[in-house]
Amino acid sequence: MKLLKHFLVSVILVCTVSLSRADEGMWLPQLLAQLNERQMKGMGMKITAADIYNINKASLKDAIVSFGGFCTGEVISGKGLVLTNHHCGFDAIQNHSTLERNYIRDGFWAANNAEEIPNPGLFVTFIVRIDDVSKQVLAGVSSNMSESERQSLIDKNIAEVRKNVKKESYQDNFVRAFFEGNRYYLFVTETYRDIRLVGAPPSSIGNFGKDTDNWMWPRHTGDFSLFRIYAGKDNKPAEYAKDNVPYTPKRSLSISLDGVSEGDFTMVFGFPGRTMQYLHSAAVNQIMTLNDPAKIAIREKALAVIDGFMRRDEKIKIQYAAKYAGIQNSYKKWQGEVMGLSSTNAVEKKQAYEAEFQKRVNANPQWKSKYGSLLQDLGGLYSELKPYGYARDYFTEIVGRIELFTVASQLNALVAAWDKDGEKGYQQRLPQAKRAIENVFDEYNVTVDQRLFEALMKLYLDDQEDVFISPLFKKMAGEPADVVSASQNVYSELTADPENYINGILSKSPADAVELLRKTTAVYLYNDLLKTYQSQAQGRLNDIQSKINRFQRQYMEAQMEVFKEKTFYPDAISTLRVTYGNVKGYNPRDAVTYDPFTWLDGIMEKYQPGDYEFDVPEKLRSLYAGKDYGQYGINGKMPVCFIARNHTTGGNSGSPALDAWGNLVGLNFDRVWEGTMSDINYDPSICRNIMVDIRYILFIIDKYAGAGHLVKEMNLVRPKGKKPVK
Ligand code: ARG
Ligand code: GLU
Repeated sequence: MKLLKHFLVSVILVCTVSLSRADEGMWLPQLLAQLNERQMKGMGMKITAADIYNINKASLKDAIVSFGGFCTGEVISGKGLVLTNHHCGFDAIQNHSTLERNYIRDGFWAANNAEEIPNPGLFVTFIVRIDDVSKQVLAGVSSNMSESERQSLIDKNIAEVRKNVKKESYQDNFVRAFFEGNRYYLFVTETYRDIRLVGAPPSSIGNFGKDTDNWMWPRHTGDFSLFRIYAGKDNKPAEYAKDNVPYTPKRSLSISLDGVSEGDFTMVFGFPGRTMQYLHSAAVNQIMTLNDPAKIAIREKALAVIDGFMRRDEKIKIQYAAKYAGIQNSYKKWQGEVMGLSSTNAVEKKQAYEAEFQKRVNANPQWKSKYGSLLQDLGGLYSELKPYGYARDYFTEIVGRIELFTVASQLNALVAAWDKDGEKGYQQRLPQAKRAIENVFDEYNVTVDQRLFEALMKLYLDDQEDVFISPLFKKMAGEPADVVSASQNVYSELTADPENYINGILSKSPADAVELLRKTTAVYLYNDLLKTYQSQAQGRLNDIQSKINRFQRQYMEAQMEVFKEKTFYPDAISTLRVTYGNVKGYNPRDAVTYDPFTWLDGIMEKYQPGDYEFDVPEKLRSLYAGKDYGQYGINGKMPVCFIARNHTTGGNSGSPALDAWGNLVGLNFDRVWEGTMSDINYDPSICRNIMVDIRYILFIIDKYAGAGHLVKEMNLVRPKGKKPVK
């Protein structure tokens, strides 16, 4: 009876407290042996935690890189070949494209090392070692310090830790806060800066389905590209030089031709960007009902304006393609997030969790005095934050979207530099301002921008509380407000060619230029928009947020103390993590079930000749017609993508998906729409990550592009022992 009661209590706890589930979590590689190995083996893993992360000998982690700081990549050959997503390599591919050599449209394949193209500014970073330095960093920190006292002591301690770290001269290091500042880890890294483009499929493969299919399952995108790390002759990091040599890695991934089946163990190893798993229910509610909907509504207007132009004008279509995709990507993600938070009752679940927390705290006098009012305090702070958070979203989504304001912010900074340090300050700031301005005008159409101004500044006026609206803009718009004439006011002054007009000003003497800039409507309007935001919202926002951070840190500490039975993982902060889960389909809605695998047949089903999103290259169609899949097909079919219960987020793009033996089976690139709320509230019923099957990637490289020499560099294996590898 006692046992049964114990069992029932556990069952109820599992339901209300959401103990860490098999598939949830972005785990620290250095703690896998301690926290996860048993569960991973239970789920089918055949290797050990020490095979994944080891500081004494080469392990899987030595094949994983942060790709440019925004994506993940992995080394897949003994000659430094790196695999990442097409959308991660897109900038590089775009930079090398011209109208005659259009690598975005046609793809690119280097026939040999000499044809591989350097990419100034691009880098990859390996993680050499991760050390717990919490004790040193938190030495002397006490709970009655103010936040700024606390931070300056921590900064001092971190500087000390970094000064004393044992590392080679060519290595770097940094320290990051985990668990909202309850733990600190030191990372020793190696960064290589000579990264060359090796290959990319055409967009019709690498971005098949574009925005319509983005965040969606079933998916058929071959989202990959290939780069190579070059090193100095000593194999150490070196700046770009023509005679640098292909890097010999400590470890490269073996590639499985056997794939995975439903239920198989997989893990994803990479650099997830940012998650918010431990928020107060009030914060989740605000995201779902206020912030996400506001941002979605603003982006909807922006997308409609840009789309209208892109459909009519081929030049604008090229200019705005990347911008449009970027705006659309988060817009669609937030929609999925709102849907998923609501369909899985995320707020109610958080509330139940909080009720259990409060119950346990109240039952323990020591906890009660330390943590008794935490939840109430946090809840109160979130209601205080509400109007200011909304104003922040409006400012960033509207003023940040209108590109003339991006230019104006640079011009404004020039004026500020002059006011502060005179001519010297101006001259110092000028090159940076010019670069940023040139960047905007590189892909700019003044009519599109003016229409954006009209559409978005109307929202700025209509949908905000009066205190957050720039008095100057209100005056310019007049009574009743006329945003169109206000926009004419701003844009006509700059003539039909604002770039030329502004460069004209900047070519004058600093004194004359500043004089003119002060009189430029766009510049002083931007200044008023910024000042209004800073004085009415940002100050309060930072103030409240800093209080929230303090309580959130205590809440994190308290949760780990109060829910001893739960294994906690820290929120993602762009550091190396491992997540694992089984291959699994899902039920998005009533009566609908999704398979976990897609096939080339599905590409042909979606094929629309000549369509911008769903065209299929002739060569791929003929390979399909001839079922010419070589060693990459299975039973006469070509696998394309698959999904699993790996807990991933932005930044995991390009991460390897590994099988039970640690062989590469897929390349992570997305999540399913219904489950994008996994950043806030993971739910195993609908959260899935999307990967390209590695066999489709090999098939495209070898059969489609005829770049079989690259496949020869790789180590192909058959872990399930079906057929020997050629
Ligand atoms: N949704 C994926 C990510 O968040 C892919 C984005 C790139 N593809 C696109 N069609 N916009 O990065
Ligand atoms: N496409 C995302 C990226 O760039 C990964 C998708 C996600 O957010 O999970 O990292």
